[in-house]
Amino acid sequence: MDRKLRYGLIGVGNNAVKKHLTNYAMLSNVELVAISDINMEHAEKVAERFAISKVYKNYQDMIKEENLDIVSVTTPNSLHADITIYALQHGVNVHCEKPLAINALEAQRIVDAKNTSGKLVMIGLNNRFTNAAIYLKKLMDTGYFGHIYKINTGWVRRSGIPGRGTWFTNKSIAGGGVLIDLGAHYLDLALYLLGLPEPKYITGATYQNFTHTTARNRNGYAGDPNGIFNVEDSATGFLGLENGSTIHFEFSWASNIEEERTFVEVLGTKGGASIVNGKLKIQSELLDTCIDVIPVLNDNIKLLSEFEHFTNAILNNGNLLAPAEHGVYLMDIIDHFYRAADIQEPVFFDKTIVLN
Ligand SMILES: NC(=O)c1ccc[n+]([C@@H]2O[C@H](COP(=O)([O-])OP(=O)(O)OC[C@H]3O[C@@H](n4cnc5c(N)ncnc54)[C@H](O)[C@@H]3O)[C@@H](O)[C@H]2O)c1
Repeated sequence: MDRKLRYGLIGVGNNAVKKHLTNYAMLSNVELVAISDINMEHAEKVAERFAISKVYKNYQDMIKEENLDIVSVTTPNSLHADITIYALQHGVNVHCEKPLAINALEAQRIVDAKNTSGKLVMIGLNNRFTNAAIYLKKLMDTGYFGHIYKINTGWVRRSGIPGRGTWFTNKSIAGGGVLIDLGAHYLDLALYLLGLPEPKYITGATYQNFTHTTARNRNGYAGDPNGIFNVEDSATGFLGLENGSTIHFEFSWASNIEEERTFVEVLGTKGGASIVNGKLKIQSELLDTCIDVIPVLNDNIKLLSEFEHFTNAILNNGNLLAPAEHGVYLMDIIDHFYRAADIQEPVFFDKTIVLN
């Protein structure tokens, strides 16, 4: 290719630095051109660290002036839709963080704008890109496990509130609590592994047990003892699928458990598998005996592949592993879950989300 892809980022927070800037900076066909944040002082420090010459307070100015090919949207959740749509309307491909939006309607607005623009939108679902998930999905798609009748999934933390009183705990900015934050990874992963099946009904409960304290913040997240905390810190649910299979899920930012755990456990009629804290194990049978198989996977392509994948898709018109349409599907399920938890009754899905 003749020139490098011109890259910008909006929302220079933790995720922007740890994930997007660090990884896009490693790609030889990408030029880090500009970043934007309402906190200019912080953004300027980050720009210096990554040798980025332009810093904008206003993302619209950056998009209008910099002729970008890609932007990452790494702001608080409620801003994802408007910023992504603005970028698409100006001919820019968007790598938007999870959750795609704060509800399915907002996510659908993004898909509509994407379709009109002819550009690409990929969601930052890094847990779909791990070697363990990619290998497990391949195995599931071959039918190796027989009929998958159940998945247990979740991410439970003992002390992991991402800052009590920050935007994460404010419903109008985050859209919800731990389910929209961590469920956007592991409920998504379960559904993705199953091939985004049609949901039938959902039920569950949310809890607010640690809203009064900053003692259960995630390490390094100070928070604000006087800030708003009006979202759930735990969520548990049960999703029934049209094909009779089920997904049981649990998420907590804080709970009185022994230790943090991420998990997805796949139960099939001929075998099973689990990814627990990132490690994949397969449960099978050999000569009438139950066996565990541990695939030997190459760890070192994690993360980088998400960024290469997106740039390659832009350059070669390729398919995306985490397209915007999947965000509409997930947010519809999350919307239904919050309704079910609110009325304390199961809620049935009355429409099919068409993925195109
Ligand atoms: N994929 C992952 O593993 C992962 C991990 C963490 C966070 N995230 C997602 O990334 C996003 C950001 O999370 P974070 O932890 O980095 O939050 P953060 O609070 O650290 O960063 C958000 C940044 O956005 C800036 N911002 C706010 N309004 C803005 C505006 N109008 N224009 C430009 N910048 C603006 C803030 O000043 C801040 O610097 C969230 O959607 C979150 O869900 C994803």
